[in-house]
Amino acid sequence: MKILVVGGAGFIGSHCVRQLLAAGHEPLILDNFVYGHRDSIPQGLTVYDGDMGDISFTQPILEKEKVDIVMHFAAFAYVGESTTDPLKYYDNNISKTVHLLQAMRNTKVNTFIFSSSCTIFGDTNEMPLHEDVPRQAFSPYGQTKQDVEVLLGYCAKAYGLSYACFRYFNASGADPDGKIGEDHDPETHLIPLAIQAARGQRDKLVIFGTDYPTPDGTCLRDYIHVNDLSRAHIASFEKLQTPGTELHYNLGTGKPSSVLEVINTVEDVTGLKVPHEFGPRRPGDVPAAYAYPEKAIKELNWDIEFLDIKSIVETAWKWHQSNPNGFEE
Ligand code: UD1
Repeated sequence: MKILVVGGAGFIGSHCVRQLLAAGHEPLILDNFVYGHRDSIPQGLTVYDGDMGDISFTQPILEKEKVDIVMHFAAFAYVGESTTDPLKYYDNNISKTVHLLQAMRNTKVNTFIFSSSCTIFGDTNEMPLHEDVPRQAFSPYGQTKQDVEVLLGYCAKAYGLSYACFRYFNASGADPDGKIGEDHDPETHLIPLAIQAARGQRDKLVIFGTDYPTPDGTCLRDYIHVNDLSRAHIASFEKLQTPGTELHYNLGTGKPSSVLEVINTVEDVTGLKVPHEFGPRRPGDVPAAYAYPEKAIKELNWDIEFLDIKSIVETAWKWHQSNPNGFEE
C-alpha cells in the first residue's frame, strides 16, 4: 500500500517507515523538520518538506500521490512544555490535525492511523490498562491526544473515516542495525538519559521520586520497542479496509519496569555505571502505567519481539555507541 507518513523523520515515524519498506509497502514522508532528522530517512524515498496544517500544501500531495493511508506521527510530545505553553500544543496537535483530516476529506483519502498515548488514561488505579479504561488525561498534551481520539470517532460516523488509535506506552529502543534511534532535543526520556549519563555525556541522572507506592518506590513504566509498535500499525491495515472502522489498541509489553530497574539494566548492558541521585517527583508523573496488550495481540495477530527491558536497552545501546551525538545534521 501507499502510505503518507506524516512525521516520518521523527523517532517513531522513521522506524515505522523502515518497517513499512520491509513489509513491501510504499511510504512517502511528510515532515516539517522541526524535530525530525533528515539523516533518518532511507535513500530514495519521496520527502515532502512542509507543514501538515497547511491544506494548500497537503491537499495537492494527497491528490497527486493517491495514497491509501495517512499515518500521523507529528505531534509535539513534551508533557511539561504542554503545561507552560498549552496553545503551542493545541495548535500543533489539534488544529493542524484537523487541517490534515480536512485535506484527506477533500481528496477522499479515508484511512487514518493516529499515534495516541497511554497518557490519555491519566492517573488511575486500574492497572494494567486495557482499552476500555475511561480516558481522563490531565496534561494539555494528554488532552490533545484524547481530543483527537474523540474527533476521529465523530469523523468515522459522519464521513465513514476508518481509523486506528494506537496508545503507545513508553516507546523506546532503536532499530537493531544501529543506524537510526532516539535523538530528541531536549532529551527527556529515561533510557537515552541513562545511557548518556553512563557514557559521561551528562553529569548524572536524577531519579524523579522515590516514595511512589511501587515495590522500590520509583515509577513503573511499560517500555515497548519502537519496531514492535511499528509492526502493530502495519498489522491493522487489513481491518481498516472496511469504511467506518474504528480501532483502539493499547501497545505495551504488559511487563512494567521501575526507574531503578531501567538503570540497573543500562549498567548491565553497557558495563558502565550510571551516576545518579534521588530527586523529588516530576510534576505530572503517574506512579505506574502499564498495558494489558491482549487485544492487539489477539485481534491484530501482533507479536512482541522485544519482550524484556534488556533486549530493548541493548538496541538503544547499539545506536548510542555508533552515534554518540545522535544524527549528525
Ligand atoms: C510520558 C507518557 C507517554 C508519553 C511521553 C511523551 C505517561 C504514563 N507516559 O512518558 O505516554 O508519550 O511522556 O514524552 O504519561 N525519569 C527519571 N529521570 C529522568 C527522566 C525520567 O526518573 O531524568 C522517570 C520518569 O519519572 C518516569 C520514567 O523515568 O517515571 C520514564 O520517563 P519518560 O521517559 O520521560 O517517559 P514518561 O514520562 O513515562
